[in-house]
Amino acid sequence: MTVKRAAELLSTAGSGLALTGAGVSAESGIPTFRGEGGLWTKYDPVKVASIDYFMADPSAYWTSSRERARVALAARPNPGHRALAALEAAGHLVAVVTQNTDGLHQDAGTRRVIEVHGSGRTVQCLDCDNREPRSAVQARLDSEMPPRCAVCGGTFLKPTVVLFGEAMPQAAVGDAFALARAADVILIVGSSLAVYPAADIPVVAIRSGARSIIVNAEPTPLDPVADVVIHGRAGDVLPEIVELIGG
Ligand code: APR
Repeated sequence: MTVKRAAELLSTAGSGLALTGAGVSAESGIPTFRGEGGLWTKYDPVKVASIDYFMADPSAYWTSSRERARVALAARPNPGHRALAALEAAGHLVAVVTQNTDGLHQDAGTRRVIEVHGSGRTVQCLDCDNREPRSAVQARLDSEMPPRCAVCGGTFLKPTVVLFGEAMPQAAVGDAFALARAADVILIVGSSLAVYPAADIPVVAIRSGARSIIVNAEPTPLDPVADVVIHGRAGDVLPEIVELIGG
């Protein structure tokens, strides 16, 4: 019933918007942050993912983030990512706003991806602003810790992700809220909706009149106000919706 209702709402969407979180990449092997087995159940985010922690000791940051980055760089899109790309290609979504930094929406073929927490695929030198692929920096961590800038030799190489305590990317956030205000349907996938301002995006969409669909493995704070709530795996539910729409 609810999957059918979700398909009905999306099939007539003209300015549908998706907001995704770590849950959509869980089936690609990237652990989530909260919920069962989440990263923050093991580590204190302020200790390992804040700008102060990075600036205090880039080596410690690179050491603690190395394995997660290796997993994210090796990960491939799953059926959930591909279903969202299909919904966009069929005109049911105008964009995917994501809190994820793994680049898997783009790999799955989604054309308009708005990364409100930045991208983990690039690294920026805070001294000379040179940028290089994270994969290149990862490859030299055995011989260089902390890794050095290939241009100026500096040791403050930071992935272009938004760390706790850092400013949000204004253009991406501005686009996300503008699309939320214009959305007729908001599809929320794989997020605990615990982190702001991203968690405000669906609230603004709903307040602006959008119908709302939540696909998440566990309950979220917005479940009581959503039109459709599906507690399930994104990689199962989203392809089913696409099939029902006839995508
Ligand atoms: N399909 C659907 N939902 C899933 C799946 C799945 N296969 N696996 C897990 N989930 C759900 C979990 O139940 C959880 O509610 O995805 C949600 C993921 O929530 P979080 O781990 O809190 O991730 P997210 O909402 O993206 O976190 C927001 O917090 O730590 C920061 O910057 C980080 O972008 C991140 C932000």
